[in-house]
Amino acid sequence: MLKETTTFIEKVVKEKLGDFVPEIGIVLGSGLGELADEYCDLAIPYCEIPGFEASHVSGHKSRLVFAKINDKNVVMMQGRFHYYEGHPIQKVVFPIKVMKKLGVKTVILTNAAGGVNPAFNPSDLMIITDHINHMNVNPLIGPNDDEMGKRFPDMSEVYSPELVEMVRKTASKLGIDTQEGVYMALTGPSYETPAEVRMARIVGADAVGMSTVPEAIVAKWAGMNVIGISCICNSAAGVSTVALSHDDVIHAANIAKDRFKTLVKEVIGNL
Ligand code: HPA
Repeated sequence: MLKETTTFIEKVVKEKLGDFVPEIGIVLGSGLGELADEYCDLAIPYCEIPGFEASHVSGHKSRLVFAKINDKNVVMMQGRFHYYEGHPIQKVVFPIKVMKKLGVKTVILTNAAGGVNPAFNPSDLMIITDHINHMNVNPLIGPNDDEMGKRFPDMSEVYSPELVEMVRKTASKLGIDTQEGVYMALTGPSYETPAEVRMARIVGADAVGMSTVPEAIVAKWAGMNVIGISCICNSAAGVSTVALSHDDVIHAANIAKDRFKTLVKEVIGNL
């Protein structure tokens, strides 16, 4: 399937954009998809791509967007596949493998997350420094594709300190405040209980969310550089005194989106 998908995409890209090899891949999280509206040289709806499926979460479009941003060739996922939608984990990470095959060297994974660290506020941007996989599934389970990566890949520096520093400095030059921390992924789709959030804090998480980690694991395994940026959309359950809602999450992402876009654009230029 990987070959079929890649060949299909390469053909469409060639027809519409000529020689265009994306070197940066971006996964745009809930409420953060606008970058791909602003920069769009070619959009392929997921429903037209063999091996892809439509993403049904509100706040997500479902298309693969190609664009030149800051002189770099970029491919963006406007909407991702979540495990909680019922997709097998292989489907969730499939686009990352496709990105690798298309020539992507660095992926920027973005998401909406709940703040576990009490110092975080809604609409803060957090540079991910590490993650905790609490989804009870690993996307590398199964036969290993030795061409793409090793059976037992090292995960000591999924989010390289150099890139974390680059994003930090880029934000600082732009006058954008950022937080840094550890992202813990749970399957969702229910938000966490306060007890689960206390557990997350105790084991070292600063934010919780329902995505990103499977994609980061596969990207690292496949030899790509990984940058992770969370938009802290709410204080997680128990840290917050009010009930959580997806509408509030999207609202907070909306408040952050201009800062987010400015930061990502500049980060792209610095890669
Ligand atoms: N928990 C999990 N995922 C989320 C949250 C949260 O509080 N906010 C946005 N995505």
